[in-house]
Amino acid sequence: MENSRNFYINGMWTAPMAGHDFDVVDPSTEEVADTIVLGGQADTDAAVAAAKAAFPKWRLSSKAERLELMQSILDVYMRRSDEMGAVISTEMGAPIDMSKVSQSGTGSFHLKAFIASLKDYEFEHALRAGEDDTRIIHEPIGVCALITPWNWPMNQIALKVIPALATGCTMVLKPSEQSPLSAVLFSEIMDEAGVPAGVYNMLHGDGPGVGSQLSVHKDVDMVSFTGSTRAGRAITIAAAETVKRVSLELGGKGANLVFADADPKAVAQGIARCFNNTGQSCNAPTRMLVERSRYADAVEQAKAAANATKVNAASEGGQHIGPLVSEMQFTKVQDLIQQGIDEGATLVAGGMGRPEGLNRGFFVRPTVFADCNNDMTVMREEIFGPVLAMMPFDTEEEAIAIANDTDYGLTNYVQTTDPERARRVARALRSGMVDMNGKGRGAGSPFGGMKQSGNGREGGEWGLDEFTEVRAIGGWPT
Ligand code: NAI
Ligand code: MG
Repeated sequence: MENSRNFYINGMWTAPMAGHDFDVVDPSTEEVADTIVLGGQADTDAAVAAAKAAFPKWRLSSKAERLELMQSILDVYMRRSDEMGAVISTEMGAPIDMSKVSQSGTGSFHLKAFIASLKDYEFEHALRAGEDDTRIIHEPIGVCALITPWNWPMNQIALKVIPALATGCTMVLKPSEQSPLSAVLFSEIMDEAGVPAGVYNMLHGDGPGVGSQLSVHKDVDMVSFTGSTRAGRAITIAAAETVKRVSLELGGKGANLVFADADPKAVAQGIARCFNNTGQSCNAPTRMLVERSRYADAVEQAKAAANATKVNAASEGGQHIGPLVSEMQFTKVQDLIQQGIDEGATLVAGGMGRPEGLNRGFFVRPTVFADCNNDMTVMREEIFGPVLAMMPFDTEEEAIAIANDTDYGLTNYVQTTDPERARRVARALRSGMVDMNGKGRGAGSPFGGMKQSGNGREGGEWGLDEFTEVRAIGGWPT
């Protein structure tokens, strides 16, 4: 890409001042698709300085002005949406048709949802009816560092950049070095849409470099991070020195509770959901818990569904899953599959190595383990590949206990045709989100986790709240 070796700072494409080259590898072919530069301290400082300088003015921009800008971003985004899908497909391996719809579609989806949320958002109001002399003001927090992962690159960028912009913050985006090209294209869109200079800045870098530099920077007021629990912990520690706000969206190990009365298609749908994006989703339902009377059938259905899952290069049209993002993730997932076998889980589909006919690229076999117990590594660790672990349960209480026995708490899933049970189980599950019977949550719902899945809430009014400070002023003249 024309701007792949540049950073977007203070409204201009600029050459890096420090750092070194880094190859962007197409995970389907293992060929170098492009080269970026991972920046250094001088670049981080320049980006933060631009955001800091732009803050006083952008802080005072009106809601109408921000809405107009968001609409303009959406218009440009829609025009370049297919291009975005293609870029994401090359850099991280999402199959092209899926990437154009699901991956790229998240950008416009969140833009539209935030436009609607901002229209309703009240930046100022009385403490409560009749107490007009205490004024509550939601104030933009300031300069935000936005650090994003590679699995749903545009989803995470939109969930951070758009609410930061909408609340009057200025920002520095550091996308994942594994998926940097979609961020270059996104920055071109921001530029064309007319974002004022310095309000939005983007530079490339890795965790130990730009990521850490942003986390400790004295002029950064907040870090919003999505990625591994490991990095979230490191950022929290780094940010403590300057007492900045840290908002975290981390990993997950979602349970899918399939009760005997569930829809006959529930198991196949659970597999599809688990394997979507080649299993690289923090909210993937990776532990399937099945009521014992239906368990043997469910294992057969899961096996058939996994064996029927096609794996192919991301550039191929049609429905299939692609490779994992990188050699590192390939090795990690291979190790976890081996551990499942070593710890005695029953391998019913897939296993070690590449699928037949694919000798190059970071492809893994759609894998199902049955007869797991909740102490096994495959039930406890976020695998981030197309790997499902199944186990039976006898009672509703037991199913809830197994589901909640995890360090994570992002999304759980419930399959039952009994409405009373659906409500009961949804309330009992310790996770930020619960999806039942294949239905998703409405646009503008808060996305985020409990426990080690993080503390942030992205999307809708909650996603706007994240980027504001709440102030209280007494003696407000009425
Ligand atoms: P990662 O957490 O290292 O990378 C995500 C982002 O954090 C990237 O932009 C990276 O440059 C940055 N980063 C890494 N270390 C940092 C640090 N110390 N300070 C500041 N920024 C830092 O994720 P990685 O290594 O690519 O994937 C490893 C595992 O993490 C996956 O197998 C998966 O289990 C989990 N993961 C979860 C995601 C989620 O959506 N919850 C997304 C990506 C990975
Ligand atoms: Mg890559």
